[in-house]
Amino acid sequence: MPRQRYLVTSALPYANGPLHFGHIAGAYLPADIYVRYLRLAGEDVVYICGTDEHGVAATITALRENSTPRAVVDKYHEVIRRLFERFDISFDNFSRTTKPHHYTLSQEFFTKLNDKGLITKASEKQYYCPKDRMFLPDRYISGTCPKCGQENARGDECPRCGSWIDQMTLADPRCTLCGSVPELRETEHWFLRLDTLQPDLERWFGSKTDWKANVKSGPGGMLKEGLKPRAVTRDLDWGVPVPLPDAAGKVIYVWFDAPIGYISSTIEWAEKRGTPDEWKKYWCDPGTRLVHFIGKDNIVFHTLVFPAMLMGVGDYILPDNVPANEFYNYEGKKFSTSGKWYVEPERFFSRYPADVIRYVIAATMPENQDSEFRWKDFQTRNNSELADTLGNFINRALTFVVKNFEGRVPSPAALSERDRAMLESRAQATSRVGEAIAACTFRRAIEELMGFARECNRYFDERAPWKSRKDNPADCAAAMYVTVQLSLTLAALMRPFMPDSAKRTCVMLGAGDLVTSLDWAAGGTHLLPEGVALGTPEVLFRKIEDETIAEELALLREDEPAVATPAASSAPQPVQVPAQNGTSEIVYDDFSKVQLVVGQVQSAARKEGSDKLLRLEVDLGALGVRTILSGIAAHYAPEELAGRRVVVVANLKPRKMMGELSSGMILCAETPEGRLELVSPDKAAPAGSPVS
Ligand code: 2FM
Ligand code: ZN
Repeated sequence: MPRQRYLVTSALPYANGPLHFGHIAGAYLPADIYVRYLRLAGEDVVYICGTDEHGVAATITALRENSTPRAVVDKYHEVIRRLFERFDISFDNFSRTTKPHHYTLSQEFFTKLNDKGLITKASEKQYYCPKDRMFLPDRYISGTCPKCGQENARGDECPRCGSWIDQMTLADPRCTLCGSVPELRETEHWFLRLDTLQPDLERWFGSKTDWKANVKSGPGGMLKEGLKPRAVTRDLDWGVPVPLPDAAGKVIYVWFDAPIGYISSTIEWAEKRGTPDEWKKYWCDPGTRLVHFIGKDNIVFHTLVFPAMLMGVGDYILPDNVPANEFYNYEGKKFSTSGKWYVEPERFFSRYPADVIRYVIAATMPENQDSEFRWKDFQTRNNSELADTLGNFINRALTFVVKNFEGRVPSPAALSERDRAMLESRAQATSRVGEAIAACTFRRAIEELMGFARECNRYFDERAPWKSRKDNPADCAAAMYVTVQLSLTLAALMRPFMPDSAKRTCVMLGAGDLVTSLDWAAGGTHLLPEGVALGTPEVLFRKIEDETIAEELALLREDEPAVATPAASSAPQPVQVPAQNGTSEIVYDDFSKVQLVVGQVQSAARKEGSDKLLRLEVDLGALGVRTILSGIAAHYAPEELAGRRVVVVANLKPRKMMGELSSGMILCAETPEGRLELVSPDKAAPAGSPVS
């Protein structure tokens, strides 16, 4: 198959402050996982980013820090670049929008659109602060958001609901610098004729039927209302000068030049490689898929404004997908660096590996709705998923081989059917994880990875090589041969999410080079040859103690601003929901940790030696067939159960009951008389269907 060409971008962050996990979860980690997967799948991909250095984000920060915009962007470009390095984000190029060639390209865009009549000049009334003696573009005005009522919303977008705001619609507008009430004065600006471009935009946007609902809804509504011309110049002295003789003192609006930064960064990438024209393939050839990863506050610019600019200029491809994420919060509140409600990166990375936070963010990503980072969840996912399930399997496997097979891949005399099936399941797991990443459903991809790791553990427990070691060495060798190959596949599957742990696992397997040389599909089929020496096993993920988490939470409490009384604060107060029946309230993310799926009972029998337990074989579709011990023997005869569809908690830690491992729990309702009744899906949901 010919390689598919991709140009993947992550939103250019403003160089006016440090980033936090919320940004990482929105636009950077998902893109990085996607890109790493595409590279492994053999596709032709260039991953582009850089800092967005113009606009009022830089000038206001300069005023606040008693500095200059140039010094601010120089400082934060470095801070942000280093943070991305710590997170292992694998950009092919990370540029800046203050580079000279970016100015040239932005001015070229402006001129072309102006020449085509798609930018026109008009006079309009703008806010002006008589005290500061300046016009007040964008964030120089603060006020109440017309959409959600948030006070102190910025004059360009609302930090709460993510709406794109027209300054003039803000209630109670104030000068951000001095707080005074602004006056309106006439000024001239240049406007992008979104109204003229609307029919083309509508046709193109309408054809994107597979885009996420959260990406379609806002712009769809704006198209319905009808787009208006949008000012693309500003009265500022920081930015790309407007390339027209009658525009002295005006610069191009930051949201006009920022997305052009994707192109200028690609140009820089091509130049660095010594192939200066190569960028054109990625931006002008319709065979390229352009994918923009962004947070929800950037949706309108990437689905309407930038595409309108690209269409207007011509010669360029349009976005193929814009998989925007919702907001990622922190312990129940919005991340805020200025409000100190964030995790200090230096401290974080001195205490925890980057791979763990990459894993946890991927597992809780705000794909379809807001989600959040919680320290307790971070600990649970690290301890029970990474350490106990994934790391422990690899560690058990490799230490056993070192002890009992002289540290070499065992030679299996014969493989049982179960062994063969397990070897084959590697390819299926690999496709499932790959498909989930390709569809930008990263949470599902993580579930598939962890589901496979659980399968591997189950296989190891069932095959019990520690028992066969003495009385059936050939059987033990077969089980361990398979186990080593399973470890290799786990390492291969970890690569997009946890690149460092994947590498370490490959080194432990004596095959460090496979981390790069094995393509995605081969991770599910490649076999380490018999007799090959493994490396030294080491612990992949260390457990995080309760005290460590308590320290993080205590730190947070120190930083937490004093709780405002309702009278002192006009911000909406959260509604308190009383706890019921002694159970405490949970957030959706707590609930979403429970993997509920439809199971179909294949067979049922009494569990020997128990009055209460039935032993069921339950088909969970893609999750395989599970043995589940259920305490329903007093309520159901085994023969009534075959074929019944039930609801199963699929990710419950397997538990030994009466000497046998039970891998899941079947949900029952309890009648007032104490009788248990199986919970069943209503009509036809087949085995494996998720329940939520
Ligand atoms: O919201 C932001 O942080 C913007 N700097 C994103 C710009 S994305 C792109 F257009 F460059
Ligand atoms: Zn002012």
